[in-house]
Amino acid sequence: MTEVDAPARIALDANARNNAMHQGLRLDRWRTVRDALWSVLDPLLEPGARVALVGGGSCDDVPLARIAERAARVDLVDFDTGATDRARTRLEPTARERVTAIECDVTGGCADRVLAALRDGATLPRSLPLPVTPLGSGDYDLVVGDMLYTQLLHAGLIALGIAGARQHELMRRYDPALTEALVRRVEASVAPGGHAVHVHDLACWASGHTQPLAIEAVLADPERTWDQLLRHDNCDPLLVLRRLGVEVLATSWWRWPFEPAKQFVVRCAVTRRADGSHQALLTQVSEKAVDGLPAASRSVAPK
Ligand SMILES: C[S@@+](CC[C@H](N)C(=O)[O-])C[C@H]1O[C@@H](n2cnc3c(N)ncnc32)[C@H](O)[C@@H]1O
Repeated sequence: MTEVDAPARIALDANARNNAMHQGLRLDRWRTVRDALWSVLDPLLEPGARVALVGGGSCDDVPLARIAERAARVDLVDFDTGATDRARTRLEPTARERVTAIECDVTGGCADRVLAALRDGATLPRSLPLPVTPLGSGDYDLVVGDMLYTQLLHAGLIALGIAGARQHELMRRYDPALTEALVRRVEASVAPGGHAVHVHDLACWASGHTQPLAIEAVLADPERTWDQLLRHDNCDPLLVLRRLGVEVLATSWWRWPFEPAKQFVVRCAVTRRADGSHQALLTQVSEKAVDGLPAASRSVAPK
């Protein structure tokens, strides 16, 4: 199934290059991340459920085999079909039959509008026609937005060689609107009674990117320490949920051992769609001004 609107392919090509890196190595190194996400999904996932994994990519950090074993249907919503093909190929044939790739740019091409204007030296958009409509079939018992919130713009900016203060300025300007629209899409895709799980790489430890606390200290008491970190707040789905008035039922935290010298603290936020709730999220927004949303004061660009 296809729903792609990313003609410039800047974000897509950048994400596809990232997704293809270190395969094999990542599957092994990110095993603990799959286990951590599974401990959140396991109690939410009913036998025969309909599931959407948004930004699952190669599913190196997603327990796809365990999900597909229990679910009736799993839709992999991502614009990188090379990555979703890899994820499907790794499954046993019977599980694979239940997993479908849905090729979709969740920003409706808006990230690429910004990136193409930057590449071409054109005027940057002051507003974006961001889609907030449900993803895929939009009737899922469980929808997981998996660590793509920081990657909507960032991967493309790096591909264009935009770093440092300019990169930060562009993310402050555009990411709040891109993130809000995606959070709304994820929430709008949940059937009444179902759950959404938003997984976010909240803060990074890497060389040249010093945090005021050690990652171990944060994970020992995340709720009390996370606001001391240099974070990716402009892309934070939980901050959007709070702004939209969506109740967060639970949060979980874990370490993402991305590379030997680079790791992230991940925060996962669970919401439930009650009957009749979320009506405001389903309202179509045709054109979103990008300068009207609050940029986060303590935010840094991802590494
Ligand atoms: C950091 S990766 C998440 C890790 C991934 N779950 C894995 O295990 O490899 C971000 C994912 O979001 C996808 N993505 C980024 N921007 C997207 C967009 N605009 N539409 C759809 N997918 C997007 C990328 O293709 C990638 O698969």
